[in-house]
Amino acid sequence: MTKKITKIGILTSGGDSPGMNAAIRAVVRTALYNKLEVFGINHGYMGMVNDDITPMDGRSVANIIQRGGTILKTSRCKEFLEYEGRKKAFDNLNKKGIDGLVIIGGDGSFRGAQIFSNEFNIPCIGLPGTIDKDIAGTDYTIGFDTATNTAVEAIDKIRDTADAHDRLFLVEVMGRDAGYIALHSGIATGAENILIPERKTDLEEIILSLEEKEKRKKLVNIIIVAEGDEFGGANDLSKYIKEKLPSLEVRVCILGHIQRGGAPSCMDRVLASRMGYHAVECLLEGKHNVFVGIVNNKMHYIPLNEAIKKKQRISDDWMKMVKILAT
Ligand code: F6P
Repeated sequence: MTKKITKIGILTSGGDSPGMNAAIRAVVRTALYNKLEVFGINHGYMGMVNDDITPMDGRSVANIIQRGGTILKTSRCKEFLEYEGRKKAFDNLNKKGIDGLVIIGGDGSFRGAQIFSNEFNIPCIGLPGTIDKDIAGTDYTIGFDTATNTAVEAIDKIRDTADAHDRLFLVEVMGRDAGYIALHSGIATGAENILIPERKTDLEEIILSLEEKEKRKKLVNIIIVAEGDEFGGANDLSKYIKEKLPSLEVRVCILGHIQRGGAPSCMDRVLASRMGYHAVECLLEGKHNVFVGIVNNKMHYIPLNEAIKKKQRISDDWMKMVKILAT
């Protein structure tokens, strides 16, 4: 029989994402409701290694649901990649009697959780918190909706000035190795082209299409470039286009970290609240090494290694639609 959990630790790890605070709030309040003690681990896994762990109560999470960032802070912790660091982390949890963990983060954080859990037999529940939406097994991740809306708002503004000057704009968005922010923000802003790492970038086709548009006097064009695109970022593409089509007015805008900040959208707050609530349910049910995902608007518990192993796929249908709508 699995041991009953009595004290849990919660941390945020990797790149922050809007909605992490809403998830922390949901975990803390659901745990307290179920008579569990809760500890906040500061600065991600670093706080576990350095014993930066403090008790939390219902008031510690008051007035945070609407705030971006993470009240627990975050980091990418090198020590946790080594066994010695993880052992130190486990000893610190042991001292406080913490017997379950909730980790809010992306695939790198899940990888760490899985190794840690296997080595020290401590249940770890993941919540997918990343703007990149690059975790297999869930339709959404906490922060993706807000980040994409931030990108959409910015691209709409860029279109105003692109239109005023008849210019081509190359807008680079975040996403690491995934093209979801690019794809969704590009569709939502009527972008003329979207370059994502999941598809081979056909430079010749881009030039031919711009030439064809120039011929029919369609001079306002926006190309969304995912930062992880195989050809390179928006600056590389700009250089290439300027060489091939010197008459074209090209400008580059790299949206960068503004995509990670700001108040979470309603969708991210609700998603984070539901996921946080279910993370505690998972621990109470004695589950090990799973993350909470959403599939067809229902919560699912998915083994952590599936999130890590599998790559998300963007269907051909989406790409066909992008082409048809962007003429
Ligand atoms: O994973 C989230 C993310 O914002 C990626 O989209 C981006 O590539 C990366 O983090 C940036 O990381 P940092 O803030 O460490 O530069």
